[in-house]
Amino acid sequence: MANHRISLEGNSCEFQQEGQDTVLRAALRAGVGFPYECNSGGCGSCKFDLLEGEIENLWPDAPGLTERDRRKNYLLACQCRATSDLKIKMRPAQEYVPPIAPQRRKATFVGAVDLTHDIREFRFVAEGEADFLPGQYASLTIPGIESPRAYSMSNLANGQGEWHFQVRRVPSGSATERLFHQLAMGDEVEIDGPYGLAWLREDNPRDIACIAGGSGLAPMISIARGASAAGLLKTRNLHFFYGGRTPRDICGESLLSQLPEFGKSIHFHPVVSLPEQDPGETWSGATGYVHDVVRSELHDRITDVEFYFAGPPPMTKALQEMLMVGYRVPFEQVHFDRFF
Ligand code: FES
Repeated sequence: MANHRISLEGNSCEFQQEGQDTVLRAALRAGVGFPYECNSGGCGSCKFDLLEGEIENLWPDAPGLTERDRRKNYLLACQCRATSDLKIKMRPAQEYVPPIAPQRRKATFVGAVDLTHDIREFRFVAEGEADFLPGQYASLTIPGIESPRAYSMSNLANGQGEWHFQVRRVPSGSATERLFHQLAMGDEVEIDGPYGLAWLREDNPRDIACIAGGSGLAPMISIARGASAAGLLKTRNLHFFYGGRTPRDICGESLLSQLPEFGKSIHFHPVVSLPEQDPGETWSGATGYVHDVVRSELHDRITDVEFYFAGPPPMTKALQEMLMVGYRVPFEQVHFDRFF
């Protein structure tokens, strides 16, 4: 596929789109702060105006555009590829400049470990360093699956090229069926990343809350590991909340307990919404919704905490409303990536 030059109106910035990249990924690889969140057509953050040139629209009906946007001919940078040189209108912003420029690399499947009845950690090794920040995600192209899938890393950046992903099996989900049942040792995938804005901030003295549900476990474990490795937990607490439907969904404690601060400055708070669901399982911990347990644990100091969360949309929505609307926790202290 040909390369195309993309320039921004009213800005000296221009960048190249190579191969199969979207306009958004080409911008991020070039270090341009193109606003985005989901990278998958759902949120509308990457809207732009096409002034000159031709594009291929990968998903014309993407829900990230409203009818009003469509009438104004806006496009989504994560769903468009240039098919000629382009001139576009959009406002880059410093907070979207990638701290590490995303790259594509081939990686080999080297092993998997079950964490719960439906979450498994998949491990891959790629050439070169695995370079990402705790809490970021990558896009995986899996042979036999048409479109790439976004999964967060659970480990830390390393010089051995190791990328670990904790994936929850989705009933009748084609990508997870392939990963769980057909991926064989030595199979190759493509890893494109890192992406995401909900990475660990080290530049403040606040206590940390990591809140996870489902396979939101991976980025939160990575943040806890990163905070420990950076020495942040010598002087502050990290509260780790994990919400599951039933007792057998609960996980994370065995991974956190490998960190030296566990039981000292790392506090684990599991929460179950349906404690009676599993016959034969007894549950004596917290019950209900995870955001309610966050509120009762942190209530009197909630505005002094740095929040990270990842999980099912109802959980992340309830947390956003509680923290940002209810308690007015400053926007800069709340970190999550929206997935659709
Ligand atoms: Fe493009 Fe969300 S719609 S980043």
